[in-house]
Amino acid sequence: MKKQVLSYWLKDSQKKTYPRLEKNLNVDILIVGGGITGILCAYQLAKQNKYRIALVEKNRLYHSTTGFTTGKVTVQHDDIYHQLIKNKGETIARAYYQANSEAVQGLKKIVEEENIDCDWVDTKAILYAFSEEEAKRLQREQNAYDTLGIPYEWLDKETLPFQTLGGLAIPDQGVFHIVRFLDGILNNLNVDIYEKTKIIKTNPTEKGAVAETADHYKISAKHIVLATHYPIYKRFNFYFTKIKPTCSYVAIAHEFAIKPENAYINLIDPVLSIRFLDSADPKLMVAGFGHDVKNYYSYLDQIHKLKAMATERLGAKDFTEEWYNQDYESMDMVPLIGKITDAPLYLATGFRKWGITSAFVASLIIKDLIEGINNQYAYLYDPNRNKNTFKTVCYNFAMLSTVIKTKLLTVPKSIKINPGNGRIIQHKGSKIGLYIDQNGKTYSVKPICTHLGCTLRFNNVTKTYECPCHGSRFNYDGTSLDGPAVRNLTQL
Ligand SMILES: Cc1cc2nc3c(=O)[nH]c(=O)nc-3n(C[C@H](O)[C@H](O)[C@H](O)COP(=O)(O)OP(=O)(O)OC[C@H]3O[C@@H](n4cnc5c(N)ncnc54)[C@H](O)[C@@H]3O)c2cc1C
Ligand code: FES
Repeated sequence: MKKQVLSYWLKDSQKKTYPRLEKNLNVDILIVGGGITGILCAYQLAKQNKYRIALVEKNRLYHSTTGFTTGKVTVQHDDIYHQLIKNKGETIARAYYQANSEAVQGLKKIVEEENIDCDWVDTKAILYAFSEEEAKRLQREQNAYDTLGIPYEWLDKETLPFQTLGGLAIPDQGVFHIVRFLDGILNNLNVDIYEKTKIIKTNPTEKGAVAETADHYKISAKHIVLATHYPIYKRFNFYFTKIKPTCSYVAIAHEFAIKPENAYINLIDPVLSIRFLDSADPKLMVAGFGHDVKNYYSYLDQIHKLKAMATERLGAKDFTEEWYNQDYESMDMVPLIGKITDAPLYLATGFRKWGITSAFVASLIIKDLIEGINNQYAYLYDPNRNKNTFKTVCYNFAMLSTVIKTKLLTVPKSIKINPGNGRIIQHKGSKIGLYIDQNGKTYSVKPICTHLGCTLRFNNVTKTYECPCHGSRFNYDGTSLDGPAVRNLTQL
């Protein structure tokens, strides 16, 4: 079968498109960003039947991070519970579990109530150990489950279908087809949706806030939800110092040597996350080999290592789709969800690759904040917490060396570029980014990040420019895709 760098989920999208906004708007609630967070916020708020709501998306709905997930719906976010007990105490660790447990059940209820055909499968989520060190961490996590009263089952190594040192299983979790789930929600959503509509500014006003689109239309709203992955808000916006971008690789195999049930993940790099797809014609999905985006790892090397490990450990063969994507994580592992101080603007970010339940939690917290209802989990996710922790200071200090490294990177003076490829080259004393499409058309851009000026690198597999500093990404033509950089790259 032909290999494709394309998400398995996106090819099953119902491919409905929405108009570009071409007028000023006045609504009660504006949601910016059409990933799972924005769509679930729209769903919860629309259910109240009392708001005029608009959702705007700069590209296509769910074609950013959301369309590239592995679709595990679980409270088992690695070994977070022992770390939360240690760093924040039992009460917070328990609240985190409860919030995510309600999210698993809440998402399942949406599937049932809205009758969405999205391959939801009830499953065990299993944290497993390959190494002694992982086995020790599993033991600590098991103690945390006991402390918090999290239901689990210890699985001896003999009971797991591939070679491990044992596992910790939480029952009643789920896996699903995220795009079919979101399409199911969108089909019955009473919200005005606009695609290809990029917000470039949001400002508080006396009556609420106003957002401006790249085409200079204004959207006035009483509340604005920034469901933009990285929260785009110019004033006091130093979120790039508080959230760290990391990426992960995913591949799908059509042949494998283990029974297609349950979802698995181990703890220490190299991570091999496992789930199965399509119960009628089972396929194996593996993910892992993630790293900080500041590391100059090659896509091809990482994806190759992931597949080799899946072949060695699980007998995986006949790989078809493969991709990678990135997500942000906060310094204390807990997402940032809530209201920006002194403005009717709300954000949800830092999901640490566990964004499906976190997006559900965000949708309820943000709905409650807008409605003036006390939400029992809001304090836990408060985005204004932890202003200058030791970890934040260290992260930003280390970032300075990444910034300098990008500046010192040497690139070739000239090089032959074949159609469908791109490179950054040195030309008359400056760096330029060149991409030649299959028809021979050349796109040249200034490969300098429009956020804080780091030099970008070109990923020849995804045809994107990527910033190793805070994770901004741009299409080969310079269009901004993700991250703190709102402006497109300068075309040359
Ligand atoms: C490889 C990988 C595997 C993962 N697997 C899992 C998993 O199994 N389970 C799990 O729970 N989580 C998983 N995650 C995490 C999860 O996918 C993300 O946390 C989640 O999709 C984030 O959703 P979002 O809606 O917040 O962001 P996004 O999906 O990025 O949506 C934000 C949207 O906002 C739009 N936008 C941005 N700026 C603007 C603007 N200025 N104007 C208008 N629109 C704008 C973007 O175009 C984008 O569509 C995984 C992540 C990765 C990278
Ligand atoms: S994302 Fe901050 S400099 Fe590029």
